[in-house]
Parts: sequence; C-alpha cells; structure tokens
Amino acid sequence: MTHILILNGPNLNLLGTRQPETYGTITLADIEAMCAREADKLGVTFDFAQSNHEGEMIDLIHSTAAQGIILNAGAYTHTSIAIMDALSSVNKPVLELHLSNIHQRERFRQRSYISKVAFAMICGLGASGYPLAMRAMAEHLAL
Ligand code: DQA
Repeated sequence: MTHILILNGPNLNLLGTRQPETYGTITLADIEAMCAREADKLGVTFDFAQSNHEGEMIDLIHSTAAQGIILNAGAYTHTSIAIMDALSSVNKPVLELHLSNIHQRERFRQRSYISKVAFAMICGLGASGYPLAMRAMAEHLAL
C-alpha cells in the first residue's frame, strides 16, 4: 500500500494561534484529521510529523519507510541546505507544501532550497493544500 510521510517544520505546531492573518485559525491537529480523511479516500497510509529541529527533521527523512515525502519545512525552506541534501540522499519523490503563497511575501521567503529537489510545489491554499498534496503524491507514485 502507498505510504506517505507528511513532515512539518518549525513553528507549525503553533498553527491556530500563530499569525492567523497569514496562516488561518486551523490547528495542526485539524490538518492531520483532514489528511486522515483524504488517506481513507485515496486508500493510502501516512505518517504525520512535526519538528522544530532541523536535525530531527533530517533523521525523519533518513528513516522513513514512506515512498514519498510531503514537506512543509517552514522557515527551513529558505535556509536549509542540510534538509535539501537529506532529501536528495534518500532519493524519494518530494512535494513541497506551504500554507501561504511564499512568492507574495518577503523577498527572503522567495528562495526555496526544497524546490530544487521537489517534483512539485503547492502554496497559497492554506490547509486545503494538504489533501491536495496527498492526492498529487498518490498519483505521482502510481505513475
Ligand atoms: C510556511 C512559509 C514559511 O516561509 C514560513 O517560515 C513558515 C510557514 C507556510 O506554510 O506558509 O513557517 O512554510
């Protein structure tokens, strides 16, 4: 059965109260529940993780049994060559995901190291991007 890792980076544990004008009021637990409903529809399984620590995210990328990785790396998107290298090292399809439209925001958010190794990127759709990303990953893995 198709198995997907959905990995969330720093500060995303605070969704719901963190800058609601940018990220909405939905919590990460709500998003995980949305993903569970989508997984049932798609007939896939998934692991849902969040970490505020770059090294821990890298360990999760190295150790996952998932066939594909959906990654909202938070601010590490714009800084972490180490996470980019970890993704290249495991050689699994990566879909980059952001709640906000990073291209509409500050200039420093417009550079993404994750995009260099991702087959696709979804941004600007808020929490709805998560189930869409799962569908896109399931279709990509079925190709
Ligand atoms: C984010 C965008 C990043 O620039 C920011 O640092 C985040 C969240 C998003 O989902 O829109 O933490 O990845």
